[in-house]
Amino acid sequence: MGIQCVGVIGAGTMGNGIAHVFARSGYDVVLCDVEQRFLDRGLDTIGKNLDREVTKGKITAADKATTLGRITPVLDRENLADCELVIEAATERFEIKAEIFRNLDQLTRPDVILASNTSSISITKIATLTKRPDKVIGMHFFNPVPVMKLVEVIRGLATSQGTFEAVRDLAVKLEKTPVEVNDAPGFVSNRVLMPLLNEAMFAVMEGVATAQAVDEVFKLGMAHPMGPLTLADFIGLDVCLDIMRVLQDGLGDPKYRPCPLLIKMVDAGWLGRKSGRGFYSYS
Ligand code: CAA
Repeated sequence: MGIQCVGVIGAGTMGNGIAHVFARSGYDVVLCDVEQRFLDRGLDTIGKNLDREVTKGKITAADKATTLGRITPVLDRENLADCELVIEAATERFEIKAEIFRNLDQLTRPDVILASNTSSISITKIATLTKRPDKVIGMHFFNPVPVMKLVEVIRGLATSQGTFEAVRDLAVKLEKTPVEVNDAPGFVSNRVLMPLLNEAMFAVMEGVATAQAVDEVFKLGMAHPMGPLTLADFIGLDVCLDIMRVLQDGLGDPKYRPCPLLIKMVDAGWLGRKSGRGFYSYS
């Protein structure tokens, strides 16, 4: 039987983007978060991002209304009981994800696939929290979710071929391009991206060049849409630090040590775009 109803846990940047693309592709979405204000903000963002698509003539105003109508915001996870797939996009902390996956394992039917949008935490480890490790998988989207084509599909050690194929096919139905990756710290995307951003921070810290100059090098010399420091601010410096720590702990090589400037900025609450200040100021 095909999947029609999808649960999304977390209405933040990634969760609301994931809800957006599923609803736009015709799926019913149950969007769950812990506070009403997070749900309100998530739905507001989805509305604004759908407006961009209306303005560009990609969808009509009626499509926008239909898409929003497919999303049911909920505070109580019990409402996910009838979902045929659940994607967790909560805060990037193992303890938080652990509680969610244990709970989802009890709430949902045993045949339901439980996916995580984690950007670096081990899928194999998350899977052990459930009685269905074969049905646990990584479905890693990229910000901004409505725009970025990639879905990194991560197989945990126990993920079954059937689970992998179902999630891969689902990504195609969302008009995304799935790329298969095995479970390892940071997978492929963040194993390679984060050390680049971290090294750019070392260059700034050591006075090799300003943040603006480093970014110009990558925009003009390598055709990156954003330079590494603009991108770090966009992702969130706290998220970058968490991922560097996952790489450091998981791989043990000193080359993955987080840049001291990154640690200092996170300690200061300079988290990038979302806090108004990072390598750049945002007003
Ligand atoms: N939601 C929906 N659509 C958005 C959007 C958003 N938040 N932001 C931009 N867009 C759309 C615009 O409407 C526009 O659409 P059209 O192509 O139809 O015109 C398109 O994206 C381009 O936007 P803009 O013209 O406004 O701006 P831009 O050309 O500077 O592009 C960008 C903006 C797409 C964000 C681009 O700068 C970019 O690709 N940056 C790199 C983003 C990136 O690397 N993301 C991955 C981060 S890593 C991650 O997410 C995972 C992790 O684990 C850390």
